Amino acid sequence: MQNPFRVGSTFTLSVPPCVMIIFGSTGDLTKRKLMPALYNIAVDGLLPANFSLVAFGRRTWNHDILRNEVSNSVREFSRRQPIDENILSEFVSHSYYCQGEFDNLDSYERLRELLDSIDRQTGHAVNRIFYLATLPEHFEMIINNLGAVGLSEKAQDPRRESRIIIEKPFGHDLVSARELNRNMLKVLDEQQIYRIDHYLGKETVQNLLVFRFANGIFEPIWNHKYIDHVEISVCESLGLGSRAAYFDKSGIVRDIIQNHLLQLLCLVALEPPVTFAANAVRDEKVKVLRSLRKIDAENISSSVIRGQYTKGYVAGEEVVGYLNEEKIDSRSRTETYAAMEVFIDNWRWAGVPFYLRAGKRLAKRITEITISFRQVPHKLFATEDVREVRPNTLSFQIQPDEGISLSINSKPPGSRVRVQPVKMDFSYGTSFGTEAPEAYERLILDCMRGDATLFTRNDEIEEAWDFIDSIVNCWAQNPEISLCNYEAGSWGPTEGEDLLKKRIGYGWRRL
Ligand code: BG6
Repeated sequence: MQNPFRVGSTFTLSVPPCVMIIFGSTGDLTKRKLMPALYNIAVDGLLPANFSLVAFGRRTWNHDILRNEVSNSVREFSRRQPIDENILSEFVSHSYYCQGEFDNLDSYERLRELLDSIDRQTGHAVNRIFYLATLPEHFEMIINNLGAVGLSEKAQDPRRESRIIIEKPFGHDLVSARELNRNMLKVLDEQQIYRIDHYLGKETVQNLLVFRFANGIFEPIWNHKYIDHVEISVCESLGLGSRAAYFDKSGIVRDIIQNHLLQLLCLVALEPPVTFAANAVRDEKVKVLRSLRKIDAENISSSVIRGQYTKGYVAGEEVVGYLNEEKIDSRSRTETYAAMEVFIDNWRWAGVPFYLRAGKRLAKRITEITISFRQVPHKLFATEDVREVRPNTLSFQIQPDEGISLSINSKPPGSRVRVQPVKMDFSYGTSFGTEAPEAYERLILDCMRGDATLFTRNDEIEEAWDFIDSIVNCWAQNPEISLCNYEAGSWGPTEGEDLLKKRIGYGWRRL
């Protein structure tokens, strides 16, 4: 299987025939992300010939109602407008609804009959991709029932493999993640499981690997000798939306840091993989996660800050505090913000602090990674005109405006020698003149092609939980550890700023 990381842009993807079966087909994810992604894959001419979509759900819908829903989702949420009516109607005409209950084997028998009839129409066996966009409590039951009716084949027919795409949250802690992995592996092989972390499908995230390993000039300085510290921020201005009940049980550390943020950290920190095959890349990510220094009761207060928002203003609108949100217990101690200083105890990163932060209801939505390089060894320009020489920084902006920016020091024109930082910017929009595809487009296509490079493997998930458990267990055992308040619409509690200041002399990079 060829991986597009390894080939030039002239490569045309070959996508074997498949049918995609979505569980949780009436939910928000399906409507906002999955349907538009499939349509956009079709617009790019990459949807395999005879592709069919099957939605499995509890509602008493029929094919026509589903087709209407698919069409409405695409019209409302596709990144590409206006809609190409021919492509949409072709896509919609191959959509089928299967009404059933997750816990009822007869429903799965009916699903199998429908899938067999699609095979007959196509004239041969095709891959089957089961997308579990349901609440996590249904994952095991669905997988077991697929197995029970013979829908979990492991490539017995060379033209057919069953694959499962599974959404987060993957477990709630190490114990539950291990159990889920163990149970899934009773029915499926690891190669059939595609655990999605949609951050890995974002263009700039993928570009991190290309940037590091396709440019000769950065990798030699990508280590503790030249890098002073790294900041990774996943900031959101949004609150909880309809997910308050889930979030209150989870908190930001489990919701964002365990998965998206640690994945970003892995891509910044991993060693060059032997190849760009899925397991080679994932082996290196696992090594990073294993090298993370655990947080314990001794150091948690100096290394991790947790916060919860109070009322404030976001984009000019007044918003309530967390404790006044609907469905939130007014005594909740769930963190909506966390900032932490972590260390990767290995040869390359010895002593380099990585600062991670994530938060809801912050000043704006922005995800950025910034590498701060060490200062020059000798202050040559220490004159009264030069108050400060800022270290060079390299920033990867993941969203909203995808791009990379290098700050270098330069002399402004004039007779005096002064030093001022300037930026060299690369932005996707202007350099490639094309809009980056949505993360889900890339990931669905990769799964159709059997390429799991951008999906997380069972041991990655478990290592990530092992680290996260060290934090959340400390909080659970030491409830007196402070939960700092911050005003909605701010950049988080001042204690979060102090975390950096005490070591590097200034707070988070202004975003
Ligand atoms: C999800 C989290 O995984 O990612 C949400 O559960 C969060 O809480 C979302 O809002 C952020 O995704 P994005 O792509 O909008 O940054």
